[in-house]
Amino acid sequence: MAQNNKTVAVVMGSDSDLPVMKACIDKLKGFGIDPVVRIISAHRTPDIAADFAESAASNGIKVIIAAAGMAAHLAGALAARTALPIIGVPLAAAEGPAGIDALLSTVQMPPGIPVASMAIGKPGAINAAIFAIQILALADEKINTKLADFRTSQRQKVIEKDSAL
Ligand code: RP5
Repeated sequence: MAQNNKTVAVVMGSDSDLPVMKACIDKLKGFGIDPVVRIISAHRTPDIAADFAESAASNGIKVIIAAAGMAAHLAGALAARTALPIIGVPLAAAEGPAGIDALLSTVQMPPGIPVASMAIGKPGAINAAIFAIQILALADEKINTKLADFRTSQRQKVIEKDSAL
């Protein structure tokens, strides 16, 4: 049973992920959704990750966005512990293969435990928010209207850029 209006959680593996994930949090807030934001690591705090996922639904969470870099197992580790939809955001680490490591770690889930993986980095962070909004919009007319307005506005901006050439 929902205990509050915090229906979306944004979880990231480290505070070093926050600068990129701010784009996700800001997009959600732009739609009037104030997310639960947590730093939880699949590797450094696996017990907390398990507890968080197992209690998320009963705490009113409907969608979890999970972002991590390197061997990015956070989204998959959460998905293993809850049937809530998990949206994964692979992030590029300061050093290494530019997020390809995290992308493959996030997207290559075994059959039966899906993660909806977004693009690497900020585009994925923004799309994770929009994807979560699209899920919530299925059962929330106000969010659905905001989503339609967003699509119209986005379309209009492209048309204006085209006209300005
Ligand atoms: C991952 O390792 C985190 O999600 C982060 O992207 C990466 C590096 O973490 P820090 O060493 O910066 O804490 O688990």
